[in-house]
Amino acid sequence: MRYSTPLSYNPIDVARITEVLNRYEGIHHNQIVTDFESAIGKVTGSIHAVALNSGTAAIHLALKVLGIGVGDYVLAPSFTYIATINPILYLGAHPVLIDSETTTWNMDPHLVEEALEVLKKEGKRPKAMVVVHTYGMPSQLNQLLAIARKEGISVVEDAAESLGSTYQRKMVGTFGDVGIFSFNNNKVVTTYGGGILLTERPELAEKARFLATQSRENLPYYHHSEVGYNYAMGPLNAAQGLSQLIDLQDNVTKRRLIFERYRIKLEGYVHGQQCELPDMYSNRWFSCFLFKDEATKGKIANVLGSRGIETRPLWNPMHRQPLLINARYFGSREAELLFNRGLCLPSGHNLTEDKIDEIVQVITQ
Ligand SMILES: Cc1ncc(COP(=O)(O)O)c(C=O)c1O
Repeated sequence: MRYSTPLSYNPIDVARITEVLNRYEGIHHNQIVTDFESAIGKVTGSIHAVALNSGTAAIHLALKVLGIGVGDYVLAPSFTYIATINPILYLGAHPVLIDSETTTWNMDPHLVEEALEVLKKEGKRPKAMVVVHTYGMPSQLNQLLAIARKEGISVVEDAAESLGSTYQRKMVGTFGDVGIFSFNNNKVVTTYGGGILLTERPELAEKARFLATQSRENLPYYHHSEVGYNYAMGPLNAAQGLSQLIDLQDNVTKRRLIFERYRIKLEGYVHGQQCELPDMYSNRWFSCFLFKDEATKGKIANVLGSRGIETRPLWNPMHRQPLLINARYFGSREAELLFNRGLCLPSGHNLTEDKIDEIVQVITQ
């Protein structure tokens, strides 16, 4: 079904992309990708950036360059999109799924500690932790990073949804050993398909770039000693990214205002939302709310849908997925409560105040 009010939609701005492309006439197209990498590096304060063709590819390479392989254990939230977990499976590693805390809905640091203790008793030591800032809301990074440091665990930040979010005034995606963003169609900045890998460590960036381009060695002929991937970002995608990146803060401000308008107008009708703790600033990629119960949530989704207004249920937790039936899970089913009672409401930065008010009216009638 095509919705007249989609969840989050970036219309193509032909004039803007054309303007960017015109600037590169006569210049090798690889320069567009390099410039996009520099622009993201500048915006995020990151030293090395490798532009790729999806956020999923970026997570795959992030784990790979950190040495994750067959049989390794990787901690990750249960309350996330499958693209956080699939790359762990690509590598033959075992995801260890951690439940959410109730404030940010991200991975609960206490449960991470509990999981590590239990696994230690079994002689198992996770090698990496994937930290997700879900719906743009920063995770409790101080606590998670302290645990990782103490235990010698590598950290991948899956910041796919959170370009423009900050923690202690620093862009999320720049705290882990490697961070990634997605630029798929519904993001705050889109390339209409794409991702990027960020790191401060030159050797990791170099290795990721090598793997992303079929692991072709630097010789005058084709020479390959290890499996590679075709993961590099294309120049047209990078041009689109450059054309929209200047709007980043504007788009974040608009999304935060959308969330605030819903929050204020839905007071009394909703039973919870993601909250920023001190030092957190969310890009509010999606405005998500909990309703009284599952039936109320379903009814609201149906009525809005019948009016052409798209909603999405919150993530169906990973520990409930048939694919992950054998994965370890630590928690008390908070993520299940979020799934049962929560909805993402239209959140695109182009959403008008009138449309928000119409959505609120449908919910509260
Ligand atoms: C949390 C999370 N991780 C990873 C991804 C994967 O990004 P992509 O769609 O660019 O592969 C997404 C995509 O939206 C996501 O939401």
